[in-house]
Amino acid sequence: MQTAFSLPETIALLSRTPASGEVLGLERSSRFVNAAQKRCAQYECVNARIEEVDLMLDGIPATAFDAPWCRWVACFVSSPQSLVEGLAKALKPTGVAVFHEYGDYASWRLMPPRPAINHFVAAVMESWRATGGEPDVGLTLPGLLQRSGFSVREVRPLVFTIGPADFVWQWPSTFLRSGAERLRELGRVSDLEVKMIVAELAEAERDSTTVMMTPLVLEIIATKHSNWSPNQVSAHVNAPDGNHAMECERRSGASPWRTAVEQRSILDERARRLLPEQNSSRRR
Ligand SMILES: C[S@@+](CC[C@H](N)C(=O)[O-])C[C@H]1O[C@@H](n2cnc3c(N)ncnc32)[C@H](O)[C@@H]1O
Repeated sequence: MQTAFSLPETIALLSRTPASGEVLGLERSSRFVNAAQKRCAQYECVNARIEEVDLMLDGIPATAFDAPWCRWVACFVSSPQSLVEGLAKALKPTGVAVFHEYGDYASWRLMPPRPAINHFVAAVMESWRATGGEPDVGLTLPGLLQRSGFSVREVRPLVFTIGPADFVWQWPSTFLRSGAERLRELGRVSDLEVKMIVAELAEAERDSTTVMMTPLVLEIIATKHSNWSPNQVSAHVNAPDGNHAMECERRSGASPWRTAVEQRSILDERARRLLPEQNSSRRR
């Protein structure tokens, strides 16, 4: 059995699943669940099951499955650690987990630069953080996976440079137009800012020399250890190593993305811990 998070992954995994297998799609939004179920019925996908599940509250309703694929979901959950631990429990030994999550959302840029679109990207990141998510969650996943019984086999950046005529352009441009409106509804951008975002996008689309760099996605592929047991998870949770810093800060309710002054004091603190010889020479 394979487990997907949301509709596109479910459909994609179905094409790779034998008729004897099953794909389980997990999604929190009842609207998306209904749409996915309708789509599956339309295509007579008899070996697909879509369930309404909040991954943070309900966990993963499966055991001993072969491969989960999680795209752009870990960035919205309040605890990526719980998500990864849940996967470790539900996956069969030697099962393979695949993630596509952002590693640097702010890398989403246009050439030449467009200030209103940069503002949009920053506002999107703020809005996700305000609801407990983390756009650049991909940066924490390799460490979390290793501490939860996985070997990380591959971490690969996926970035595209595209022009308005490219098919892929439709993905970010559609999100920009609907996203600007959504940010206005949330009170995160003004009417004028929405107009500027849409106008800049239209201007960029009229200019055939425009290039868009898509936000950096990390493809992370990890295999579950064959001898892993659920008790091993919590033993590592509070390990104060460097890779774990962002997760620890998140758990304490603080954002790992801080002002330059805050960042500086965090670095000083880390230097005191990691480079004691430097501190003693400074004190002398
Ligand atoms: C940006 S969409 C990605 C959809 C799809 N995975 C894809 O790649 O196109 C994020 C999805 O994550 C779902 N989601 C967010 N938090 C969730 C949670 N705690 N449990 C289950 N689904 C969640 C949202 O409802 C939304 O459908």
